[in-house]
Amino acid sequence: MNSNKQNFSRLALGTVQFGMNYGIANTKGQVSPEEISKILKFCETANIKTLDTAVGYGESEKYLGNFGVQKFEIITKLPAYPKNCKDLTKWVSETINGSMSRLNVSYLDGVLFHVPSQLLDENGILLYKGLRELKNSGKIGKIGISVYEPNDLEKILNQYKFDIVQLPFNILDRRFEQTNWLKKLKAQGIEIHVRSVFLQGLLLMKSEDRPKYFLKWNELLKSYDFWLNDNKISPIKACLSHVLANSEIDKIVFGVDSLLNLKEITSSIDSNFQVGPEYLCTNDREIINPALWPKP
Ligand SMILES: NC(=O)c1ccc[n+]([C@@H]2O[C@H](COP(=O)([O-])OP(=O)(O)OC[C@H]3O[C@@H](n4cnc5c(N)ncnc54)[C@H](OP(=O)(O)O)[C@@H]3O)[C@@H](O)[C@H]2O)c1
Repeated sequence: MNSNKQNFSRLALGTVQFGMNYGIANTKGQVSPEEISKILKFCETANIKTLDTAVGYGESEKYLGNFGVQKFEIITKLPAYPKNCKDLTKWVSETINGSMSRLNVSYLDGVLFHVPSQLLDENGILLYKGLRELKNSGKIGKIGISVYEPNDLEKILNQYKFDIVQLPFNILDRRFEQTNWLKKLKAQGIEIHVRSVFLQGLLLMKSEDRPKYFLKWNELLKSYDFWLNDNKISPIKACLSHVLANSEIDKIVFGVDSLLNLKEITSSIDSNFQVGPEYLCTNDREIINPALWPKP
């Protein structure tokens, strides 16, 4: 139980499902306030202390604030700045104040740039300074970026200093490991948070339930099913165990649609970690980047 509690402390609950109707595996739509309350209460008792949200996740911040999340460590994300913005530093400060007010907290453990490519445009430095000032004033603990591709990192990290990088990582998608980024980030003292461990639930679905779009990767997904079967491991355990096995990863952001999903997750974790085989890795963005999937 103790080592499990330690493992649970590496888990961070992703809350996009609380704020909008989202996900190919989600059959029930936006999670209801009653279910959100059950999920958060369970997290409190299970030592899952970190919540990941974003201004861009619809009503997510508001529902978290309504529940009362002062006891959690909160990470939110700053959206893209509006094109006609005259005073970026003021906009950053007002946007963060808006998040704090919706979340009903006076301190944020982390704020990530949700569209870090904007840091490379002519106003990027002002954007960064805005968040940096809030960190210096003690309103924010850590600042960071949420990225999609290994290529996004090089230029940004050459120009700016961050405490956290959030990136996608799962059994099919090991690009940040293979390009050595996990090691490079660790060497720079940067915390690594990963998301998409279940690839929006695709890696947990029975083959017959996968949407037709994924037929193109039938061979790859069949190999995944065979590997699970050969190793007598459930998909949920395989996905979690694969990320937990990587000691460079500090936090694992995962999403759930129900308390049942969450209970399945916590009961699947033990201390026997197993890395997925390399033949399941792919660089094909059309399967590993859910933003490129057709909208349901
Ligand atoms: N037993 C089960 O069946 C079971 C158990 C657990 C979970 N699940 C399923 O797994 C899902 C969670 O999968 P996961 O943890 O691997 O997370 P995921 O859905 O792959 O990744 C979550 C990330 O996707 C991005 N995102 C948000 N809105 C989006 C949108 N509209 N389009 C594309 N991407 C968007 C967000 O990152 P950015 O904000 O950075 O874009 C978010 O943090 C749950 O919703 C549930 O359906 C099923």
